[in-house]
Amino acid sequence: MTSTPPTAPEAALTGSLRDFRAPVGPDLIGRASEFYAWQNLRREHELWPYARSTATAPQARCEARSDTGSVFSGINFASQDYLSLSSHPAIKAAAIEAIGEYGVHSAGSAALLGNTANSVRLEAELSAFLGGREIVLYPTGWAAGYGSIQGFVRAKDHVVMDILAHSCLQEGAKAATQNIHYHGHLNLEALTRKLQRIRAEDSENGIMVVTESLFSMHSDTPDLGALRALCDEYGATLLVDCAHDLGSIGEDGLGHLGLQNMLEGADIIIGSFSKTFASNGGFIAVRDRATAEYLRYYSATHTFSNALSPVQAATVLKALEIVRSEEGRQLRRQLMDNILLLRSTMVAAGLEVLGDPSPIVPVSLGLEGVGRFASRNLMALGGIANLVEYPAVPQGAARFRFQVMASHTADDIHQVVEILARAMRDADLEYRLANEARTQAAKATAAA
Ligand SMILES: Cc1ncc(COP(=O)(O)O)c(C=O)c1O
Repeated sequence: MTSTPPTAPEAALTGSLRDFRAPVGPDLIGRASEFYAWQNLRREHELWPYARSTATAPQARCEARSDTGSVFSGINFASQDYLSLSSHPAIKAAAIEAIGEYGVHSAGSAALLGNTANSVRLEAELSAFLGGREIVLYPTGWAAGYGSIQGFVRAKDHVVMDILAHSCLQEGAKAATQNIHYHGHLNLEALTRKLQRIRAEDSENGIMVVTESLFSMHSDTPDLGALRALCDEYGATLLVDCAHDLGSIGEDGLGHLGLQNMLEGADIIIGSFSKTFASNGGFIAVRDRATAEYLRYYSATHTFSNALSPVQAATVLKALEIVRSEEGRQLRRQLMDNILLLRSTMVAAGLEVLGDPSPIVPVSLGLEGVGRFASRNLMALGGIANLVEYPAVPQGAARFRFQVMASHTADDIHQVVEILARAMRDADLEYRLANEARTQAAKATAAA
């Protein structure tokens, strides 16, 4: 067990970020401090595993710092670098060459003078990868997701989205319309009912159906063909966010769009470069030039934000070249071998692994308090994975999100699962002790 005290106050084991989302009172700044008090309580007990920073490159073994400054090192399953391209020599060389040629900054919006020859080439190469679609680039994947809805949807239109759609999609929808209809995760019947209801009352306005090709907390995938059929039936537009599987999944790297033969079928595809393509940045891919041109001037996160830097554009361009090459295919096979080994080793250790095989491997922890202890223990024992809690996932369904890389070795995987199993066993015990201590204290108070 870890050397930290076995108990922690209830408030450090319960509560969530949601509790502080809507503070009230006239003092906009002052009312934010309640969150800080709760966060600090967790921090004091080493139960705040967020805002950590790497002290080395985000590779399979890395050194990092907690947000209180304590240094730790371990087997890293917390970085999003699925094909391990972020330290690839050819990509580093391309980034350095771009700095030499263009400096480090785009110095303008892509709608003005922010593009470089590299970002223009990136649009062309990404278009070739995605079957000739028109590409619009964004400074982040989040900006692409937000802009894909805000750019097209207007106040009288409707957005129908999976309840687990990413924050960028939800915020883009909120900026565009009040007509947002959430349906249960991957629930086609619920989606059908929503579409029926909307079309029964409104045949005049647009409907955008929003989903992801690989859900980032659950590692599962919708039936994209069924979504296409429903969109056709009800006159809706289908948007698919392929942030996590584009480049990393499938023989050709086209993710579930490729596996389900739906590259053509999605009306709007959005993606992020930050999971597989070794850089911040994102894109929207549409079918024709007119649609792309509209986005360039009406999606705020493209028009009114600086373009990808020359370094980012050069990085993604080289990463894309690798993704499309035999080396990329080999890296994807290695990655999938690692994913399958990690999942089967976890199952053999008695752990509950969620979702389908993908670079995201969610491991169930249950109660938030147990998750917080498990996360503290994992770090102390030399394992690094991200803790995901409510409201990012349902309440009482905390989990670790392991993110697998092609460069993980079988040794990394076996060792981290051993550490994980111990961290979780200890966490269960610590949580029980904390509850018992609280019950004893309550009894003593009552008796006094
Ligand atoms: C499904 C999905 N869409 C969009 C994004 C945003 O991408 P980025 O982090 O590259 O801005 C993410 C990343 O968190 C994501 O998981």
